[in-house]
Amino acid sequence: MTSTKVEIEFKNLSKNVNYLNQIIDKEVEVLAVVKANAYGHGSVEMTKALIELGVDRFAVATLKEARELIDAKIQCYILILGSISESEILEAVKNNIVFTIYDLNQLNFINSLKGETISFHLKVDTGMNRLGIDVDQIDETIRTISNNSNLNLEGVYTHFAESEKEESNFTKGQIREFNKIIEKYKSSIKNIKFFHMANSSGIINYPDSHLNMVRPGILMYGLAKNPGDKLSPVMRLKSSIIKIRNIDKGETVSYGRDFTAEKDIKIAVIPIGYADGLPRFLSNKGYVFHNGRQCRIVGTICMDLTMIDITECADAKVGDEVIIFDDSLHTANDIALAIKTIPYEIVCGISKRIKRVYL
Ligand SMILES: Cc1ncc(COP(=O)(O)O)c(C=O)c1O
Repeated sequence: MTSTKVEIEFKNLSKNVNYLNQIIDKEVEVLAVVKANAYGHGSVEMTKALIELGVDRFAVATLKEARELIDAKIQCYILILGSISESEILEAVKNNIVFTIYDLNQLNFINSLKGETISFHLKVDTGMNRLGIDVDQIDETIRTISNNSNLNLEGVYTHFAESEKEESNFTKGQIREFNKIIEKYKSSIKNIKFFHMANSSGIINYPDSHLNMVRPGILMYGLAKNPGDKLSPVMRLKSSIIKIRNIDKGETVSYGRDFTAEKDIKIAVIPIGYADGLPRFLSNKGYVFHNGRQCRIVGTICMDLTMIDITECADAKVGDEVIIFDDSLHTANDIALAIKTIPYEIVCGISKRIKRVYL
């Protein structure tokens, strides 16, 4: 009997990384994004697998996520992309974790620290209007960094706002602007190792944005839009039937009683609910699969349980496997489309209580 579980298919990860390596130049460094528990796939396991595949630089969102890798005794280059407080900066410096300076106040803080060399990347905002110093603050950052030999500016980066659009003038504008910014930094500060801007869709759609480092996330997990069939989703989500019952015409199913059987049907209960990350919005709308046969979700998805219509599955029995999403028949992308969201939200939302099985 299978309980609810996530299966992680390393073969697919390897295929996706191969594809990545085909579309970037050999000289381009990969900074693999393993934040948010590697988009729900398990950051420790994915980082170890990616190291086996030749990747040796990783990006996380927070110091806590960086610590998870360090606590697992993984030795690699780690860059924190996101939020970091002053006390966290001190801890990052002590532990050789590279972090992002995305605000002048932070730069002034590290400029005030005495003693050790501080390695960091600087993020410049070119249109996302999220983290990053403004373009008109660049000169000030150059002055500060040039005057303090303890400040080791290891990378300068920016982030795309809509690189998933294949022909975006805005994106082309961000690339043009960032190239000018790169020249400014290069002409004033020696030995900046990395310049980067491309996330997955940037890597696929805008080859001139690869610079000397790229930051793939969803591409590695096999859920980026890509030409042809070059990527395969790494995550599959499966559950199993724990109870079968007959529902007479006119009976209702689940909370709120907003499903009424129009004829006699047979339903199965599967032990997965919205607390596991199955979006409640799929209630009465979504599908799962039993032996390749599509079974609609009936009634409201509960916190831990969901009911499905198995009337057409004559052979269905307790213990049978049910596929919520997989890497071919019905992917996290299909679920995302059905509820008008992005596959990121589906895989990141799969809760930690579901066991990950690595294949
Ligand atoms: C700064 C930054 N770079 C790269 C990525 C990776 O994005 P993607 O998963 O689209 O490749 C993210 C993800 O949110 C990000 O915030």
